[in-house]
Amino acid sequence: MDKIQITGGRKLHGEVTISGAKNAALPLIASSLLVKGKVLFSNVPDLRDIRSIKELLEDLGARCSCEAGTLEMDCSHVDKIEAEYELVRKMRASILVLGPLVARFGHAKVSLPGGCAIGARPVNLHLAGLEALGASISLEHGYIEARADRLIGNEFYFDTPTVTGTENLMMAATLAKGTTVLRNAAREPEIVALASALNQMGAKISGEGSSVITIEGVDQLSPASIRIIPDRIETGTFMVAAAATGGNILINGCDPEHIGGIINKLKATGARIETSKDSIRVIGCEQIKSVDIKTLPYPGFPTDMQAQFMALMSIADGNSVIHESIFENRFVHANELLRMGANISITGGNTAMVRGVKELQAAPVMASDLRASASLVIAGLVAKGTTQISRVYHMDRGYEAIEKKFSLLGADIQRIR
Ligand code: EPZ
Repeated sequence: MDKIQITGGRKLHGEVTISGAKNAALPLIASSLLVKGKVLFSNVPDLRDIRSIKELLEDLGARCSCEAGTLEMDCSHVDKIEAEYELVRKMRASILVLGPLVARFGHAKVSLPGGCAIGARPVNLHLAGLEALGASISLEHGYIEARADRLIGNEFYFDTPTVTGTENLMMAATLAKGTTVLRNAAREPEIVALASALNQMGAKISGEGSSVITIEGVDQLSPASIRIIPDRIETGTFMVAAAATGGNILINGCDPEHIGGIINKLKATGARIETSKDSIRVIGCEQIKSVDIKTLPYPGFPTDMQAQFMALMSIADGNSVIHESIFENRFVHANELLRMGANISITGGNTAMVRGVKELQAAPVMASDLRASASLVIAGLVAKGTTQISRVYHMDRGYEAIEKKFSLLGADIQRIR
């Protein structure tokens, strides 16, 4: 099992280019199931999760060809509607094939994705939404089975904004008969990107990016060529790393419009941030100020940046209250930061009190999920000594060549096999 080894104490400097967004690419690749023909994706990140969804679609009969950064998916000959447990368990975002399969084939059988380290991750709203569109849903032996001669447009109100729930229903509604209105929909940039791609394929979607999305059903969608948007969480991760090390970096190929919540909070810690259309310069300050954060659905502060921010607050001047309002168990990384000398107490449920310390100490630590691993890298960059992070397969799910990118920014970091 690979490990990442980091010797801390270096200020990051230089330039880094952001990869395509994992959480945009996954629903977009799933949406190719709606099309009889080839859909071409560019700026595709080279990640484990991308390989997982490619494997899943090929198992359903899709033909995929890919080379550096591009992926062509042809779902003309898909002849299987069952997404099997062995494939779905590798990546719970596989649930994103449910909506497209039942919309195009009238039938889908998808293994229940189950939970993960950060929470139970239910999909009840995905299923309630499909039922509102006329699908009959049954749950047997760990599988979801959805059937519908043809989905019928309807109104559906999400109890809570759900990113993949909104994506699943938006994709399903594109081929429904009549109009669907999704209320209390999620507003993430990845949803806007998916709607834009579906409209390029001939769908009729409006309101994306707001909490009310309207989809007028059409009879079929056509091939298109789609470019994956930059990864806003990778962008935020490098921004926090620059601030933590007191460095000065230029982040290219990003979209500052997507990270207002992160910029706002990072400026409050004392970092200097200069933005242009597709790049951001982050200049860290000597004394990091403590700030409180509460994770919220977009455009609030993203839950996927909470772990990285906790590492930054661990060496800030003062106390920071971090409230995780999206997932019920997203403080697992705190235990590993404590082993590095951080002073963190989890006060009741989803709130952590972080008391800044002068310096973290290197230690052998273990990643528990994708963003926790990023948090440990940031801690390793500033800790005194050499840190080894195990279970970095979590990191490889969502960060493309992260040790190479940090190394180019001057970090003493390497992957050891
Ligand atoms: C997406 O997960 C992202 N994954 C997550 O990123 C991200 O943390 C999350 O959105 C929140 O922003 C992808 O886009 C592939 P949700 P998703 O449904 O869609 C509850 C990463 O690190 N809920 O928006 O699964 C749920 O329990 C990953 O890249 C229901 O109750 O998250 C949670 O409390 C981690 N019923 C809240 O909604 C449902 O049917 C938001 O979850 C669905 C969700």
